[in-house]
Amino acid sequence: MRKIAVLTSGGDAPGMNAAIRAVVRAGIYSGFQVFGVMRGLQGLIQGDWQAMNLGSVADIIHRGGTVLKTSRSEEFMEIKGRVTAYRNLQRAGIDNLAIIGGNGSLTGGWEISKLGVNVIGIPATIDNDIAETTSIGFDTAVNTVADAINRIRDTASSHGRVFIIEVMGRHCGEIALSAGVAGGAESILIPEINNDLREVVNKIKQGAKRGKLYSIVLVAEGAGSTYEIKEILAEQTGMDVKVIILGHIQRGGTPSAADRILASAMGKAAVDNISEGKRNVMMAGDCHNIEGVSLEGALNKNRQVRNDLVALARVLST
Ligand code: F6P
Repeated sequence: MRKIAVLTSGGDAPGMNAAIRAVVRAGIYSGFQVFGVMRGLQGLIQGDWQAMNLGSVADIIHRGGTVLKTSRSEEFMEIKGRVTAYRNLQRAGIDNLAIIGGNGSLTGGWEISKLGVNVIGIPATIDNDIAETTSIGFDTAVNTVADAINRIRDTASSHGRVFIIEVMGRHCGEIALSAGVAGGAESILIPEINNDLREVVNKIKQGAKRGKLYSIVLVAEGAGSTYEIKEILAEQTGMDVKVIILGHIQRGGTPSAADRILASAMGKAAVDNISEGKRNVMMAGDCHNIEGVSLEGALNKNRQVRNDLVALARVLST
């Protein structure tokens, strides 16, 4: 019987459990034996996996995090670690590996595919920084940040304060841009665009002239030092400026319906691609259309900034 190992790797993302569930159940439906690997790529090196059955993934579709746990494996980044992992898979007769994770994890998958195992990538990272696809977890993180903006706006407007909210995304501004538009942030700073703080200062000052004594400035963590931005805005506007670092709450919570649907569809598509004999592909698309694209090709492409959202924010936020 053909075998599939499935793992989650890198920063966890809401929806990972829905993807695990789909790979296991679609795999069993299609006649595969499916094995769940613990703690991501490090679990491959340790040979730490167990056979999964339909009941193994019961009642997890709505849970954040990952029941298979995750890690960032330095050892796997070395060829010695990958050879150990590959030999473990060979000894177990496992020739297909489904990796649910972000850029770093899928890159590790591409590297071990060079040894002979068939790697199927399922993009899962709140950063949404992988080219050609929407990543699992992004929609939930955007909703979490949009909700936080609503709550902060209540107190900012009550006290007449400027709040700088720092969001995750590593070197990508996708969360800040989408959540900023959804939350009506007055200013959005992302690493993909050179940000001129004079524009932010002028917007705050113009608002004050109209009697709007508060502002929400959303800063992607890769766009610069949030505390330096705070000092500049406080000095140049004379306003009371506060900083909130949302941090890891963006990684938790029950996945949105959109993320559960995306994860379920990508997990099944991964099994279908294996059944069709596709090798070393990444599931790419959105809730409506998913296809297997070259894993290497996707990893070698840079994701383009959503200029449509940049333009929308410029027009609508005052
Ligand atoms: O890649 C997801 C992410 O949440 C990034 O946005 C963030 O910079 C990083 O992980 C944090 O990593 P860790 O959870 O290891 O602190």
